[in-house]
Amino acid sequence: MIHPLSDVQCKNIPESTRIWQYCVILPNAKIGKDCNICSHCLIENDVIIGNRCTIKSGVQIWNGIEIEDDVFIGPNVSFTNDKYPRTQNPNWQLRRIIVCRGASIGAGSTILPGITIGEGAMVGAGSVVTKDIPAKQLWIGNPAKFVKNI
Ligand SMILES: CC(C)(COP(=O)(O)OP(=O)(O)OC[C@H]1O[C@@H](n2cnc3c(N)ncnc32)[C@H](O)[C@@H]1OP(=O)(O)O)[C@@H](O)C(=O)NCCC(=O)NCCS
Repeated sequence: MIHPLSDVQCKNIPESTRIWQYCVILPNAKIGKDCNICSHCLIENDVIIGNRCTIKSGVQIWNGIEIEDDVFIGPNVSFTNDKYPRTQNPNWQLRRIIVCRGASIGAGSTILPGITIGEGAMVGAGSVVTKDIPAKQLWIGNPAKFVKNI
């Protein structure tokens, strides 16, 4: 289902994936089945999203970001892909982010460039993730720190 108020330029989104109002999805993005992409999301070209993912409102998924199956991205999560951003810098270096299968990221968190969030991990709301998070761990805070195994 692609809501008529969205701008979806990508032609091969599975029918079982729902794209809601005011989303913009660029042509080369790859998006799996049974996903729910809520209103006001932007998805660039060099992006892979797996199956059964939930992306809440207000999330931008930039080039170089991969989201595996069964991932939850909370509202207004900020991904980043340029560690030392400068305007109009042709030499900027893209650093990829991977959110592994089954992970969840709480509302309003910021994920710095080059980070991997492990399988089944959870990031508390409002965290700033500056280091890789191993599988099945809860991390929270700014900078996010290990809290417990889950
Ligand atoms: C991280 C989280 C899973 C922890 O839940 P929990 O294990 O039940 O933890 P508690 O609520 O018992 O809180 C434990 C402690 O952590 C603190 N804490 C909990 N979440 C926190 C967060 N996101 N950032 C900073 N501290 C947090 C609490 O203040 C409490 O501190 P205290 O022991 O000093 O009193 C939960 O708080 C959270 O952030 N969930 C994500 C919610 C969200 O974004 N949902 C998106 C869909 S709407």
